[in-house]
Amino acid sequence: MEQVIYVLGAGSLGLLYATRLARTGKTVCLLVKPSHALALNLGITLREGEADLAKRVFVRVRSEPSSEIKIQQLILATKAGQAAKALKNWQACLTDDAEILMLQNGMGSQAEVADLLTPQQTLLAASVTEGAYLEKPGAVVHAGKGKTQLGRWSGAAKNAAARWTSRLTIAGLIAEVVEPIRPVLWHKLAVNSVINPLTAVNGIENGALASREYKPQVEALCAELLQVFKRLGIEEPEGGLVNRVEQVILSTAANRSSMLQDITAGKKTEIDYITGTLLKAAKALKLELKTHQTLYSAVKEAEQRE
Ligand code: PAF
Repeated sequence: MEQVIYVLGAGSLGLLYATRLARTGKTVCLLVKPSHALALNLGITLREGEADLAKRVFVRVRSEPSSEIKIQQLILATKAGQAAKALKNWQACLTDDAEILMLQNGMGSQAEVADLLTPQQTLLAASVTEGAYLEKPGAVVHAGKGKTQLGRWSGAAKNAAARWTSRLTIAGLIAEVVEPIRPVLWHKLAVNSVINPLTAVNGIENGALASREYKPQVEALCAELLQVFKRLGIEEPEGGLVNRVEQVILSTAANRSSMLQDITAGKKTEIDYITGTLLKAAKALKLELKTHQTLYSAVKEAEQRE
């Protein structure tokens, strides 16, 4: 059987991984909505950094499941809220030993997808810090180099994480196996639960959160997160959580967070998979997280307004 790497989702991360893998000579096939297929068939453009010239990369494109499509290697790169629904559409094409790598922000979507799979199909979850954005549909800019930390979420194949790591490494992306992966996903969720809603509600770039004005809120949000971490037995990131959040604020200072971009574009945000997951965990532990709850409500209100 021909080895094809399938990528479901043509957002910035989906296109970044698809083009990087295709450039190493792998056969890559994008699974997209019918309305996007025609344009993507003409090629994807990739710019490695904002000053770089755009390179056109060709990949296969499919928009309808069929019996000839056998998906053994899949990167699931949709938004968190669409992951399970998108996979359901292609589920009949998955092989019995499929190995699926999820790149979603937050937590919650991994369990939704795991529920759709058999024990022989393996699910891997990743925490991604690559900076990428679409300048227009089908045109991705790799604005900041980050890394992909990945590990097994569920399923049979013990070496699947190592196999995906070597594929991504060959494609020039920094990737490493981290097991167990759940604490890493909680650390990423923590950073997102501070930066994303604050920037979305206030309409500011990430860097603005480094000012004095936002320090008390950043610290209060981190303190609430640490109460949950303590009860769940999750260690603080090295150097402390406030420090980790401040580092990300500074290293992504010019970014408009994904949640701010969603609010501005009138799209549903990933708040339920970030702060929503945190609040659910807190509720089960009988903890009240006032600052996160207030921000959660403010994002929900902003979603309604746009
Ligand atoms: O969701 C995002 O925008 C990113 O994960 C982060 C790290 C907040 C940078 O903008």
